[in-house]
Amino acid sequence: MNHPDFRYSDSRNPYWKKLKALPGIAFTDNDTETHQGKWREHFDGLRAPEKSTARRELSVEIGCNTGHVIREWAARDPANDYIGIDWKFKIIHRGAEKTLAQGLKNLVLFRAHAERLNYMFGPAEVDHLFLFFPDPWPKKGELKNRFLNAENLRHAATVVRPGGTFQIKTDHLGYFEWMEAAIAEVPELWEVTSRTNDLHVNCPDPTKLKIPEVTLFERLWIKDGIKINSVWLRRR
Ligand SMILES: C[S@@+](CC[C@H](N)C(=O)[O-])C[C@H]1O[C@@H](n2cnc3c(N)ncnc32)[C@H](O)[C@@H]1O
Repeated sequence: MNHPDFRYSDSRNPYWKKLKALPGIAFTDNDTETHQGKWREHFDGLRAPEKSTARRELSVEIGCNTGHVIREWAARDPANDYIGIDWKFKIIHRGAEKTLAQGLKNLVLFRAHAERLNYMFGPAEVDHLFLFFPDPWPKKGELKNRFLNAENLRHAATVVRPGGTFQIKTDHLGYFEWMEAAIAEVPELWEVTSRTNDLHVNCPDPTKLKIPEVTLFERLWIKDGIKINSVWLRRR
């Protein structure tokens, strides 16, 4: 899939067409790769006539679901730009409708495979990258499906600017150990600035944490008493 000649084929999913009917706010499949390196200009268009000359930061969340976290970030931080990516059509469509209803001019949602990250964004275009609770694919035959591997860390490093960040959270200790091994394969690209096996250890009652401090999945794990693993990376 991470090949320059790869093309998404037209989908029969009814939400494929519905997403195409929300241009500017939602992008699907090949359309997510048409603004590579030019997403700030796209946001200028959405924001017009309130365009400002100040440099805005671009934050990208992989596996954003309906965008429950990134919509809240965008609403609280209108000075910066946000993009959420998920491969499920219906939830991205729902997120895009909510984005429109909220009148947000600084958030765009992609229906796309995160493995295509380096075709969606140009070199150093992204300031901050987030990956919260990626599918753990726990069975032996499924491990190859895990997103966080050395290859995708290399692709992520092409789009995140030097000094930019990448935060990852997972409930799954086995996947976390796999992630740390993958990160150790590319020390020239990513520096580990912090890591923990219990993100909320200092919080008196993590069950009281609300979105966007925690994600929807995170709330479920916390309720079940599962500790959250997290690592912060800095692009060298
Ligand atoms: C376990 S859910 C976590 C959702 C959300 N981040 C949260 O913490 O509440 C994983 C999400 O990643 C999406 N996803 C999984 N693999 C993906 C991929 N390769 N590209 C884009 N999205 C993906 C799924 O559709 C799902 O919404």
